[in-house]
Formats: sequence, C-alpha cells, structure tokens
Amino acid sequence: MKFTVAIDGPAAAGKGTISRAVAAEFNLAHLDTGLLYRAVGAGVLAGGEAVAVAQGLDPRDLENPDLRTQAVADAASQVAVNPDVRAALVQFQKDFARRDGGAVLDGRDIGTVICPGAEVKLYVTASAQTRAERRHKELTDKGFSTAFETVLAEVIDRDRRDSERATAPLRAARDAVTIDTSDLSIAAAVAAAIDAVRAKYPVT
Ligand code: CDP
Repeated sequence: MKFTVAIDGPAAAGKGTISRAVAAEFNLAHLDTGLLYRAVGAGVLAGGEAVAVAQGLDPRDLENPDLRTQAVADAASQVAVNPDVRAALVQFQKDFARRDGGAVLDGRDIGTVICPGAEVKLYVTASAQTRAERRHKELTDKGFSTAFETVLAEVIDRDRRDSERATAPLRAARDAVTIDTSDLSIAAAVAAAIDAVRAKYPVT
C-alpha cells in the first residue's frame, strides 16, 4: 500500500508530536525532514560546504542528538535557502514517501513540493508566542539555558526566512487541512490530525 501523509508548518507548531502520533496510529513510517536540513547545517558548522554535505548525507547522520540545538536550527534554515541543497535532498524524501506500507513526512514543503499528490496534507500552525513558549520549555527541559526573548526572536527570524525564500517557501498547500494548535491540548491536536487522516485512509 502507498499512502502519504504530508505535514507542514512553522517551527515548534507541534508537527513532530502530531507526526509521531499519526505514524503510530496507522502504523506508517515517519521522516522528520527537518533533520535532513539540520544535518546539513551541522555539517556546515563543522566546516563543510553545504551542497557537498547534502550530497554526501548518510541516514545515520540523522541520529545525532546535537541536531536539536538552536544553533543548528538556525544553520539549517540558512542552508535550506540554497536550491542546490534542497535538490540534493529531494529524491530521498520522495522515495521515503512512496515506500510500501505508507509514510508520514513532516517539514515545510512536503505538501507543496515533495509530495504534491499526498493522500492527506495537514498544515499545523500556532501563534509565534505559543511556539516560542513550547520551544523554550523543550530547550529548558533538555538542560539548555536560553532566554525566552532569544527563542522568540529566533522563531520569528526563522519563520521569515522560511516563508520568504524563493525555493520551496513555507506555505500551506491549497488542499491542506489547517490545524491551529495555539489553544489546543496535545491530545486535541493529535485527535484532529488522526480524524483528518482517517477520513482518507483506504478501507481494507
Ligand atoms: O523543529 P523545527 O520546526 O524547529 O525545525 P525543523 O523542522 O527541524 O527544520 C529546521 C529548518 O530546516 C527549518 O527552519 C527550515 O528552514 C528547514 N526545513 C526546510 O526548509 N524544509 C523542510 N522540509 C524541513 C525543514
């Protein structure tokens, strides 16, 4: 069975939590495509050249826990502007999306560029304030001490860079179901996503 769920949205909107829950509910494979850009960003911070790092990426590079830092997120959104970096990562994502058994991919351009034919498209969003609060808590829980204002500024800056770039900007696909998680509990946001997927899930 081929079945693709495309989940896009800005930083810290809840895509990760929703994607993992949808994947578990329907027994689908999950790819967090942000990790690809983070791995390239980390490679550049380590002195590599962005396109060469993207072309030489190994799936094992995605398992590095250091990819979750703010510095790497920022570097990721800078390399993500480069069309040659994006081009180097397209085929891996497309192959993952059409694997047997179905897949969930989350990112910025999944419903618009990587999988325009995805059976389900979700656009998960929330206010910048809410997203910065969540990201700040996440970082604090992991032991990183960063001021809230710094996190908020970084979220706004990255939103702008991701939305304004020429190649594959962050945008809801025309046929996406939007879930605004600003005032939703995790359980309610996950339930809304699962309902949207179930409505399209093939009856066996
Ligand atoms: O977890 P968070 O939402 O903060 O970020 P992420 O999904 O890990 O993505 C990090 C950065 O990679 C984003 O700010 C984008 O610039 C870039 N990205 C992209 O351009 N396209 C994707 N499909 C996924 C991420």
